[in-house]
Amino acid sequence: MDHHQATADSKLQAIRWDRPRLSILNQLLLPHASEYVDIRTSADGHHAIVSMQTRGAPAIAIVAALSLAAEISQQDFESAQQARDFIVDRLDYLATSRPTAVNLFDAVTKLKAVAASALECQSPAATGASVALAYVDAAEQMLAADVHDNRAIGGHGAQYIAGRALEQGIGAFKLLTHCNTGALATAGHGTALGIIRSLHQGAAARDPSGAVLDHVYFGETRPYNQGARLTAYELLCEDIPSTLVCDSAVSALLRRDPTIVAVVVGADRVAANGDTANKIGTYQLAIAAKYHGRDFIVAAPSTSIDLGLASGEGIAIEERDPREITRAEGFVLGGLEDGRMERETLCVAPRDARAWNPSFDVTPAELVSAIVTEKGVFVKNPGATTYDLAKCLGEN
Ligand code: MRU
Repeated sequence: MDHHQATADSKLQAIRWDRPRLSILNQLLLPHASEYVDIRTSADGHHAIVSMQTRGAPAIAIVAALSLAAEISQQDFESAQQARDFIVDRLDYLATSRPTAVNLFDAVTKLKAVAASALECQSPAATGASVALAYVDAAEQMLAADVHDNRAIGGHGAQYIAGRALEQGIGAFKLLTHCNTGALATAGHGTALGIIRSLHQGAAARDPSGAVLDHVYFGETRPYNQGARLTAYELLCEDIPSTLVCDSAVSALLRRDPTIVAVVVGADRVAANGDTANKIGTYQLAIAAKYHGRDFIVAAPSTSIDLGLASGEGIAIEERDPREITRAEGFVLGGLEDGRMERETLCVAPRDARAWNPSFDVTPAELVSAIVTEKGVFVKNPGATTYDLAKCLGEN
């Protein structure tokens, strides 16, 4: 599989896989330095996820899967059973890295099943090498499938949003997004940012009577600044006209500019009824969109949908170190003499200030106008306040 070709439509590549070598773009250094880190083992993968060198729901799952692929590609197993036990043990360990994005748990479940079936179906001929190979093939397929699904999300979402703009008589429309959901958060192209990328890429070919994406606004996404650091960088790389705003400016922005037809965000976990966990700040954006009469659109692959959860109440919300709020991380302007930028931590609150730092929130389905997956665009039935995603996905 040629992964470089698979992600050719994004200039940025968060995950580089060249069997058996895995490296990831260290997102802690962006936008000031573009450095790749080698990931040789599941322990390296776990560290990359916990330390946020890599982040974003689909990317977390794929880095976890491939980190173990890298590890077992270099390893000899005495038996098929030993290989399978090792894989299950390391997948359980990788599942402890971050709690909210369901893609990780979905990948862990699927990959355990691959290892079990390689052991059982090939029995008695199964060997440690054959079980390991089945695992590596499956992890690679997840990488390729994510890019493929994101392009499909991009196409469906672009068509839907352009159609909604035309219905409102807005020929040149704007969008507002949150956090980072692009090539950096996925295997390539992105989800919500993938729709924006697809709209931008399609603009040249669009029929003159169609609606076009004119501008993208995005929030800084405190405290980790995925918007200010990562989305700003991606949009600049792609030459997509864009403006950064404070998280607290979004309501004022929506009131001021009626050509912002929709707020488009990604998801870490969508419950069966459409309740959506995503980066902290998403819920208040949905409320602001509702008040101002704009669409609030969630874009996510079906691997982000947790049909095992009836509603968002059961979603585990990661709470991070309060010091992410009481301090600010940045790079010293002007840099060091050799051109490198120096990373610095500043105190922005009194030393003894208490802080609460949930990394995600849950937006009730009632506020979600549409959910875009690789399978299409889902909207609620007339009069309904929730979705039946099992039905939408053809699972019942
Ligand atoms: O804490 P992060 O940066 O991993 O959070 C990322 C988000 O909340 C994204 O919106 C979500 O994972 C979707 S990424 C396609």
